[in-house]
Amino acid sequence: MLKKKVEDICNRQVEREGFSSNLYIAMASWAENNGYSGVAAWLYSQADEERLHMLKFVRYINERGGKAVMPALKKPAAEFKSVEEVFREVLKHEEFVTNSINEIVALTLEEKDFNTHNFLQWFVTEQVEEEASVRTILDKVRLVGKNNMYQFDRDILSLRTPATAAQTKP
Ligand SMILES: [Fe+2]
Ligand SMILES: [Fe+2]
Repeated sequence: MLKKKVEDICNRQVEREGFSSNLYIAMASWAENNGYSGVAAWLYSQADEERLHMLKFVRYINERGGKAVMPALKKPAAEFKSVEEVFREVLKHEEFVTNSINEIVALTLEEKDFNTHNFLQWFVTEQVEEEASVRTILDKVRLVGKNNMYQFDRDILSLRTPATAAQTKP
């Protein structure tokens, strides 16, 4: 049985992963409307992964005798200045999520909840990969500059690692 404190912080993560998914759909939608179909495809795939992260938490909470609660999600931004700004925001958000996962890990140690601690290890690894992949993309965006965005947009999908794609089951 999950302790209430752990259940609550896991539900907080349900909200954060759900918001991540909506945020990336909002960014994908902006990219699609501005001619960046590759960037949009990357973000739509990322949004799907975030939805699966949310589901992993929902199912884990319920499996351990807790109650997963679907939250209201705040409205993400709809306008962005540039593709670079989008990925700067993605990185900032992923760093926020990494901290959030780390806070849950810390609580599980405090509460001696080793099952949840074990469940979280997948997310710990996932966050390292996600931050690294977004940093790579951001480096490339800065490298190509405004003039070569067409090529960047065409190539971005090749930056999705097969390892990340394989890890999307809830
Ligand atoms: Fe996530
Ligand atoms: Fe993420």
